[in-house]
Amino acid sequence: MSGHVPVLAVDGPGGAGKGTVCRAVQRATGWHLLDSGAIYRALAVAAARRGLDAGAGEALTGLARELDVDFRPIGDGGMRVLVDGVDVTGELREERTGNLASQVAALQDVREALLQRQRDFRKAPGLVADGRDMGTVVFPDADVKVFLTASPEERARRRHKQLKEQGVNGNLPDLLREIAERDERDRTRSVAPLVPAPDAELIDTTGLSIEAVVQRVMSLLQNRLSL
Ligand code: DC
Repeated sequence: MSGHVPVLAVDGPGGAGKGTVCRAVQRATGWHLLDSGAIYRALAVAAARRGLDAGAGEALTGLARELDVDFRPIGDGGMRVLVDGVDVTGELREERTGNLASQVAALQDVREALLQRQRDFRKAPGLVADGRDMGTVVFPDADVKVFLTASPEERARRRHKQLKEQGVNGNLPDLLREIAERDERDRTRSVAPLVPAPDAELIDTTGLSIEAVVQRVMSLLQNRLSL
């Protein structure tokens, strides 16, 4: 199909390994990368700066429409994120930002306001889209859809390790509780709940190495698109 820009949609709960897998696939393919969670997190940071909480629906929707967020790739697949021109890369990854992001992400108008912004990432030669509703809502026509999962315990351990690498001392039982709460909210919300697309390939990454998951995703892409 001429003009067709292929999309790989990678969905699943936090800590399932989406970010790491997507960055590896992006490096291997040279495609663009959409970290949609970072957009919801950027909105949460912008909201917190304005003293807005998840109850401020209308103001949040307005903010989502006008959100000034800039993703600046740095070497080795990393990214700096600027909100209102201010570097908020560190704040973006904090648990409180993730929690507020999960709450604002439950608002239908906010999701709609962010839809086109996400679709605009689809540019040649292709897009790796990381999120919760990439294969169901944002790119329902994605060429390959993958749904990554892992047990809550494994995801809490991974988050704990990730935080440690960033010099933050997380508490494992607290992380597990927060993961369970966020899963519940993301899964049961009425708007774009976290569910696999019917045509998604399910991969449980518990006990699997990153390389094994990346290989599996790459072979799905190669079979489908003859890369
Ligand atoms: O993947 P993450 O932890 O950076 O995402 C933060 C929150 O944003 C997550 O709790 C749910 C929400 N989110 C969403 O609702 N839809 C997406 N496509 C991506 C993230």
